[in-house]
Amino acid sequence: MKDTKTKKRDTWASRIGIIMAVAGSAIGLGNFLRFPAKAASNGGGAFLIPYFISLVLLGIPLMWIEWTLGRYGGGFEHGTAPGIFHSVWRKNRFIKYFGVIGIFGPIVIFTFYTYIESWTLAYSFFALSGKYAGLADKTAMHSFLRGFQGLENNQYFSGLGTAYFFFLITFALNIGVIYHGIRGGIERLCKIAMPLLFIFALILFVRVITLGAPDPTKPAWNISNGFGFLWNPDFSALKSAKVWLEAAGQIFFTLSVGIGVILTYASYLSKGDDVVLSGLTAASINEVTEVILGGSIIIPAAFIFFGPADIKSIATAGVFDLGFVTMPLVLNKLPFAQIFGFCWFFLLFLAGITSSVSLAQPAIAFLEDEFDVDRKHAVWIFGVVSFILCQAPVFFLKNGVVDELDFWGGTFFLVVFATVETILFAWVFGMENAWDEIHKGADMMVPKIYKFIIKYVTPLFLFFILGMWFWQEWLPIILMKKVSPADRIYVLATRVGLILMFIVLAVMVKIAWRRRRLRGGKAV
Ligand code: ALA
Repeated sequence: MKDTKTKKRDTWASRIGIIMAVAGSAIGLGNFLRFPAKAASNGGGAFLIPYFISLVLLGIPLMWIEWTLGRYGGGFEHGTAPGIFHSVWRKNRFIKYFGVIGIFGPIVIFTFYTYIESWTLAYSFFALSGKYAGLADKTAMHSFLRGFQGLENNQYFSGLGTAYFFFLITFALNIGVIYHGIRGGIERLCKIAMPLLFIFALILFVRVITLGAPDPTKPAWNISNGFGFLWNPDFSALKSAKVWLEAAGQIFFTLSVGIGVILTYASYLSKGDDVVLSGLTAASINEVTEVILGGSIIIPAAFIFFGPADIKSIATAGVFDLGFVTMPLVLNKLPFAQIFGFCWFFLLFLAGITSSVSLAQPAIAFLEDEFDVDRKHAVWIFGVVSFILCQAPVFFLKNGVVDELDFWGGTFFLVVFATVETILFAWVFGMENAWDEIHKGADMMVPKIYKFIIKYVTPLFLFFILGMWFWQEWLPIILMKKVSPADRIYVLATRVGLILMFIVLAVMVKIAWRRRRLRGGKAV
């Protein structure tokens, strides 16, 4: 740890680089698995109404808010929320502690996301090597997955060894990328991985839409009915508050807003770099990938091979079943199954790694910016700490630890964090300042209506979501009503661990600010 700052912060090498990096962070497992599953079980085509309303009123405004706040904070050499929030509201001593969420959330998600990402790498190898090629029904493919996850010993796997091996490789790859920094690591990865990802997604898209009706005895099991199953609207679903919450939740998850990663990525922009068009472009790339590509692959393909009777239960069976049981079964029925299986799982792997490196970066930036640790040491510290934390999801998957981490890190705190950011931006920084700041270096004007939306509609929408959660879910969640009695101890231990982690980060923020005061204060 050095006492004085001797080096300049990293920057993006090119505009396309940051757009690809933000799009890479956004495009993840959510686009290809979570979105189609949510749409299928929440009104089909009608789901797109709350989904696009949430995109316009929450997703796009939050994208612009995070890009703008990130670039603003970066100007004061702060790449994470504690420093960025403090730069916006200097008189408030507590706001920096709300910013802890912007480091805490990404670390929490990183711990389980990397593990799931490692399954996609493992399955890419299994697909190519034909390891699951002979499995033709759900029971067998399910048992293959459970064996791999270490949930049962069976003829396919005994113990967690294979999964752990792929986890180690995936973890090392993530650390290797961030070790090379913003330009040399993340930007370089995304510039290669994103075009590849689109190629794989397009191959699968074309394959699925040209499937027709492969079984002549079942002409109704065809591609247009597959699309019909997913997209025929059931407008009665719109009466349910849950459908609206699910749609808003999907927008948060898919755009990676409310997490803290876009703040950090944008902090490596220069003062005069555009954020309006770049932010919109990254969001649009994500949306096209999600709605057009994500919506056209897994559910229509599953419909064609499993038919109208089974598809409902398949669509609601959960994301893991869809990705690791249904899809390999579907692809196994096609010629060149091994190649298409590889395309599917490697597509998910690329989508995963471009998201997980973004989840690691806030913690690295925090150590670099607030403790003047050089990047290589910061990556080492992050590597050791996060490796230890990752052991919980790896070894206690069956006890509900991943669901618990996902709820707090990947759902609840996203909305809290987004609410704090929006209030800070629109009400503390002030909408007039905010408007000027957004438009510095801008290549297009934000439509005027967004002044009103960002100031009133987005925060009210966020309060509404939080209110609904408290009203519908707070007590059962706190009392672990949906957790089986045997797993409660694990879930409780996870919660204690999360609280401790939050406290440690808050204490680190306190120490960082005290050091700065003692040194006479650097510009904030
Ligand atoms: N935005 C990322 C995804 O969709 C986290 O998976």
